[in-house]
Amino acid sequence: MNKVVKNFMFITVLLFGLLAPTVLAQGDADPEELTKKFMGILESQAYEYTWHYEPGVEPGFYEGQAPHGAILRTFVNNIAYDAIQHGMTELPVGSFVSKQNYTPEKVLAATTIMVKMEEGFNADAGDWFWAKVQPDGTIDAAGAPAGCVGCHGAKKDNDWLFNATLGGM
Ligand code: HEC
Repeated sequence: MNKVVKNFMFITVLLFGLLAPTVLAQGDADPEELTKKFMGILESQAYEYTWHYEPGVEPGFYEGQAPHGAILRTFVNNIAYDAIQHGMTELPVGSFVSKQNYTPEKVLAATTIMVKMEEGFNADAGDWFWAKVQPDGTIDAAGAPAGCVGCHGAKKDNDWLFNATLGGM
């Protein structure tokens, strides 16, 4: 990698690091714009290589269940991972969960994300921002889609997560 590219990557990561906290407070921001920003953060952090697999699922590819696809891979960023490991009962602001949904042929079909926003952002949806994005960037759902929130609401006591067990066990 040459120096210019390296510097560019460094600045990009730095910028997103600085931007993230302000983004997380934008309760009135356009959900599509927020989705694009969050997908940008995911990409800039090369999350498939630098994040952890979500505790509670098999590392790497695992067999999924409806509605998320035949094969899945689910990642959490360091903020979420550390909180889960420390037995917190709610994930802190800035926690990211990203789940990739694959077809049985292992072709990426969609990415679903949950991002923990500031308190009061959307209490009825756990203050999570939810989105589903196709590989070409088309946004299928963003904000607090009734489908995501309705189903994940069954896990409200576990901060709306199905896989990781919060609070230590
Ligand atoms: C009908 C129920 C249902 C709906 C609707 C649903 N999910 Fe899920 N979701 C699940 C289940 C069950 C799991 C755990 C198993 C797995 O990993 O697929 C899960 C897991 C996840 C995870 C991994 C984190 C975790 O532990 O829960 C994310 C991220 C996620 N869903 C995002 C979304 C988004 C975004 C939407 C809406 C676009 C959505 N889900 C809609 C049932 C649902």
